[in-house]
Amino acid sequence: MASKLQKRVSKARLDTMQRHVLVCVDGDCGGKTVAKALRKAVASQGLRATVSVAKVDCLDVCTKGTIAVVYPEGTWYAGLDEKAVERLVTQHLRDGRVVEDLVFHRNPLEARCFVDRLDQTG
Ligand code: FES
Repeated sequence: MASKLQKRVSKARLDTMQRHVLVCVDGDCGGKTVAKALRKAVASQGLRATVSVAKVDCLDVCTKGTIAVVYPEGTWYAGLDEKAVERLVTQHLRDGRVVEDLVFHRNPLEARCFVDRLDQTG
């Protein structure tokens, strides 16, 4: 019998996830509507198995919201609204092309960074 944690892993689609979108829903960013639109667009594009959208309280940018970041690319987006969400989901999450005019920062997190750190610590 699968453990409760394994059931949650399956429900959260952690085995099939290819991209993780963190969207700020804190007061300064006001992203609750954007997060809802993101989840709806991800579902309507048939991306639920591979894209997870997580609401977070703050991404420490707190200007030009709504702020969101897409991993593993580490692509940071600002000024998201419902119209921009459609472009983000279709162009980036579905077709793999970053929406350049909405990007304000990039910092891809590569797997080797974590391996290097593990090697150093132990
Ligand atoms: S309130 Fe959105 S990044 Fe801080």
